[in-house]
Amino acid sequence: MRLLAPSILSGNFARLIDDIEYVNNSVADWFHIDVMDGIFVPNISFGFPVMDAIARHARKPMDTHLMIVRPENYFERCAKAGTEWLSFHYEATHKPLEALRIIRSLGMKAGVVIKPATRAEILEPLLEEADYVLVMSVEPGFGGQKFMPDSLPKVRTLRKMIDSKGLSTLIQVDGGVSSVNADEVFTAGADCVVAGSAIFKAADRDKESMAIKGCQR
Ligand code: DX5
Ligand code: ZN
Repeated sequence: MRLLAPSILSGNFARLIDDIEYVNNSVADWFHIDVMDGIFVPNISFGFPVMDAIARHARKPMDTHLMIVRPENYFERCAKAGTEWLSFHYEATHKPLEALRIIRSLGMKAGVVIKPATRAEILEPLLEEADYVLVMSVEPGFGGQKFMPDSLPKVRTLRKMIDSKGLSTLIQVDGGVSSVNADEVFTAGADCVVAGSAIFKAADRDKESMAIKGCQR
């Protein structure tokens, strides 16, 4: 499975509808929505008014990546906005297992994210309660950064853990992914990649999206 979630963060916010329709009509699978609070990460992106606006036009599932402190405080609001896939950072909570359970109890798919410095092994006790795990391949906070190859061994470790437990938890990789490295990322064991600048800044978005997914025009 090679799922693609374009990150709206790299879109044109003055003409967001164009980028939303692009995703709707492309080979992409989900909308990736990056929420940043300026505290957990040194940047502020957007919040619920934008998420609600995306939801009004999105015809594919929304995948929201919370880069915020106290993520639990906003799970319910994300459900109300129509997010189907919701992830929070392992580093942002003391109770990751409970957080995953709350997300599921609200009817969403639950995901937990690790930053580049966080070991993949710490996710092992959480895998049964997680619909997906997200390995950051850049420091969270900004689009357009360079892919960190150190993330690949972590993806391989998670792939082994998930397969050996017979689980169907998906592995997502986020940061610096493009058609140049997508094959490597999927071969390492990822099921879904996030791509922001690679798609929205591409001269030919369809070509880039299809190349990432490994399909022909
Ligand atoms: C970074 C975000 C990413 C980012 C990806 O903190 O979580 O989703 O938008 O953008 P690119 O693909 O440009 O690295
Ligand atoms: Zn993200």
